[in-house]
Amino acid sequence: MAVLAIDAGTTGVTAVVIDPDGTVVARGYQEFPQLFPRPGWVEHDPESIWDAVRAASASALATAPTTPTCVGITNQRETVVLWDRQTLAAPRPAIVWQDRRSAQLCERLRADGHESLITARTGLRLDPYFSATKLAWLAAEEPATWADVRAGRTAIGTVDSYLAARLTGGRVHVTDPSNASRTLLFDLAQGDWSDELCALFDVPRSALPEIVATNAVIGRTDPDAFLGLDLPVAALVGDQQSALFGQTCFTVGSSKCTYGTGSFVLVNTGTAIADPDFGLVATVGWQLDGQPTTYALEGSIFVTGAAVQWLRDGLGVIPSAAEIEPLAASVPDSGGLVFVPALTGLGAPDWDPYARGAMFGLTRGTTRAHVARATLDAIAFQVRDVTDAMARCTGHPLTGLTVDGGAAVNNLLCQLQADQLGLPVRRPTITETTALGAAYLAGLATGVWGSTDEITKRWHLDREFTAGAGADGRDEAHQRWRRAVAAVREWSA
Ligand code: G3P
Repeated sequence: MAVLAIDAGTTGVTAVVIDPDGTVVARGYQEFPQLFPRPGWVEHDPESIWDAVRAASASALATAPTTPTCVGITNQRETVVLWDRQTLAAPRPAIVWQDRRSAQLCERLRADGHESLITARTGLRLDPYFSATKLAWLAAEEPATWADVRAGRTAIGTVDSYLAARLTGGRVHVTDPSNASRTLLFDLAQGDWSDELCALFDVPRSALPEIVATNAVIGRTDPDAFLGLDLPVAALVGDQQSALFGQTCFTVGSSKCTYGTGSFVLVNTGTAIADPDFGLVATVGWQLDGQPTTYALEGSIFVTGAAVQWLRDGLGVIPSAAEIEPLAASVPDSGGLVFVPALTGLGAPDWDPYARGAMFGLTRGTTRAHVARATLDAIAFQVRDVTDAMARCTGHPLTGLTVDGGAAVNNLLCQLQADQLGLPVRRPTITETTALGAAYLAGLATGVWGSTDEITKRWHLDREFTAGAGADGRDEAHQRWRRAVAAVREWSA
């Protein structure tokens, strides 16, 4: 027995095959193009996401010692995809979570006094990040597309729903509560779509997917569509909640930070919905088949790994993302440079869709190494911003941070993070925790694992980074960072 886990992230798709020991025995990765049609807009071609899913899966399966017995899907959240129910073709590009085009629409809804109802129902905020604002923009700006949605020809979903449809040859239109809870259309306490919010955002409920358990077997892969495989698809889960599961954060108060395109700190709040405050949001963690919903409190940071990708693709400062560590380590510090990577606005805790990035403290002595170092500093500062907010929100300061995701392999970043937090940073042996969570969920649904207790035993520490000399002056450095954030916001206002 083994599980194929597909992590359809923002910049690429990772596919891994996990054996019953919880070991990654094969992997594949495929990036896909990011489309930036206007400043502040971010789109994906759904077909290129699907192509990347097949390419990454084919490459993992080519080296897997055994054929998997089920598939789990995890995905970038909030991104909206539309597709024709018959042909599965997308009538327009997906609008990505980072896209800011609905900022003015949010302002109008706020001015009309809708924000408190939205937060009370969903645990979220009125921000362009969340799906329904993008759908409301489409309803207003692309009436022909929306007419097909209303007529039932076009389906709406997040990336999990779209991939479920593609994998099963169009047989299902489903999502799970962890993804639904990111749309602004989901009533967190009721566990279902809200008619009130559907009306507010002009989204026909009939165009939305059916909500099923996070570890439900939703159907089987269509061999003609998916690499000749006929396997049960046994989990759909948003990537950050998947990482929380993959880190075995099953007890109330356990938390993780995933370094991906953005970075997301989540803490398990059990069956209680946290009061979202201090710029945090409440969300579904997962809902296991036949069990009550597990909720989480989240700090959502929009641009961390994406800043590294921008150094690579936008500035050409590094030839590959992995080069950032040696380059940043070649200088003792950033030389006074502070980089605020608000490249797609700011998420938690500032929530400013109009903010744009800036660098402060440039001199003739500034080199690309200082830019690289300031980028890693910015990741660590942003994570501190949200962990500080969590401590205030829950009344319990963190005692350490468990990390995962692509950049968790960067030892310098982990050390800078420990120094900035003044806390130990723990890294597990498997940092592809997002895929691991989906694998565990699918494996629980199909009998690969019997219980979460069994899964918990599979978490192993790789390395713990403790705060060192770099922690001296961490509060002053953080205050300088906060001044830079304030300046960016003032400039963009
Ligand atoms: O909410 C957005 C998040 O799901 C994106 O995750 O890993 O692609 O940065 P990632």
